[in-house]
Amino acid sequence: MERARHDRMVTCLALLLLLILMLLLWWGRLVHRAQMQKDLPPGPAPLPLLGNLLQLQSGNLDRVLMELSSHWGPVFTVWLGPLPAVVLCGYEALRDALVLQADAFSGRGAMAVFDRFTRGNGIAFSNGPRWHTLRNFALGVLREFGVGRSTIEDRILEEAACVLDEFQATMGAPFDPQQILDNAVSNVICTVVFGKRYNYGDPEFLRLLNLFSDNFCIMSSRWGEIYNMFPSFMDWIPGPHHRIFKNFQELRLFISEQIQWHRQSRQTGEPRDFIDCFLDQMDKEQQDLESHFQDETLVMTTHDLFFGGTETTSTTLRYGLLIMLKYPEVAAKVQEELDATVGRTRAPRIEDRARLPYTNAVLHEIQRFISVLPLGLPRALTRDVNLKSHFLHKGTFVIPLLVSAHRDPTQFKDPDHFNPTNFLDDNGEFQNSDAFMPFALGKRMCLGAGLARSEIFLFLTAILQKFSLLPVGSPANINLTPQCTGLGNVPPAFQLRLVAR
Ligand code: HEM
Repeated sequence: MERARHDRMVTCLALLLLLILMLLLWWGRLVHRAQMQKDLPPGPAPLPLLGNLLQLQSGNLDRVLMELSSHWGPVFTVWLGPLPAVVLCGYEALRDALVLQADAFSGRGAMAVFDRFTRGNGIAFSNGPRWHTLRNFALGVLREFGVGRSTIEDRILEEAACVLDEFQATMGAPFDPQQILDNAVSNVICTVVFGKRYNYGDPEFLRLLNLFSDNFCIMSSRWGEIYNMFPSFMDWIPGPHHRIFKNFQELRLFISEQIQWHRQSRQTGEPRDFIDCFLDQMDKEQQDLESHFQDETLVMTTHDLFFGGTETTSTTLRYGLLIMLKYPEVAAKVQEELDATVGRTRAPRIEDRARLPYTNAVLHEIQRFISVLPLGLPRALTRDVNLKSHFLHKGTFVIPLLVSAHRDPTQFKDPDHFNPTNFLDDNGEFQNSDAFMPFALGKRMCLGAGLARSEIFLFLTAILQKFSLLPVGSPANINLTPQCTGLGNVPPAFQLRLVAR
């Protein structure tokens, strides 16, 4: 009897202690959050719950943020609904943060729309040792399969030849180049990741590519933006944002089928592609309970390379063609330089780039002008830092406004217009700029930057070498304003006609 009473008392005491501990932890977190919010750099006054939502007009988010910066300075806070975000605006702030304090700014900020799908797996939306391990592994495998060497260049040239055949087959009739370019670009990364390419017009593959474009567009719309601010609420509201997760599910199924096929057909130690290498690594680390090489990280890492390697590059190529239609005199000058330096009988190669200053300037200018990911991807601080006289706490959500470096008047002669002289010196030689950052900067910089630059150069020069591009209608009526903007700048749909040169 005495003993039972004693046991009951001990249990009550333990529960009480646990409750006090939880309250203290909760209190500690509240105090920490309040302190963090008190130290945030100044910015426009937020409304309760909505934050600065009403000021941050959709379709103009990058411009509004740049305007706010002219009042609040290069480092300021905006509230995305209930979430504070520190915006880095202008070349200097971006460099001071992403390059000079690279470690501290190497975390990834949470985006609800991706987190629900990735659950912190893969490369793009993971953090800490998992991110580090998977990123280094992927970089190693990309190198092993020829990225950065002539092997991948040959693969891109083969694919470019297929694009030229498809283009030739249009025989001067107007057509929308999107599907062909998406398919071609995706085939390059598919060869590395899945060990195969897909024929143009393959309905199953075209459906997947449509899922990518659809997601890129919805995420870049108001629906995507609001989902990131109020995910639990938006889960209950009907709207196109639900399609994002259906699309993700379909992509996951496709990737899982590919992995299954690889499991059945592989020879251990003789990898044919990225998936085989990952499966080999999973075998090696089988006994390690902490290993980052698991089924779920395989699916998500494959998705990151597949999506990252398709959407942004093909959007850049499509935008590039639209800009060439708008500015035929620029296209003509590139063609003149290609004729004089490479001729018309062999395809341009990467080694030609150094001898093509005007062409190189035009390709850089396309990427600068369109800023395909204008807000980059969000970062999160891995430790407390000082930046431009502001103290920022570990965990702070950061928006690196990449487009602001591209529009920085201290860095470019003519930042608001498409003008290749932004990358040319007075002698007409190519002049790079530190403020050119379509792939971001620092430790988290795009891991496909080298591959993407090779693809942009090889695909666009191959097309311009062989064809004159003709607009449907007058170049003056071509509208370069993106049809979706937010996460990504997506060009309006357009058609063109081609004439063999
Ligand atoms: C024109 C083409 C491309 C552009 C403009 C672009 C841009 C970017 C940007 C701005 C980021 C965010 C970097 C940051 O965290 O600040 C990123 C990340 C990433 N990109 Fe790209 N990218 C392109 C092509 C590619 C290609 C071809 C691949 C595939 C090989 C790829 C794979 C990735 C991956 C995996 C990440 C996540 C990196 C990490 O979190 O560590 N991208 N990209």
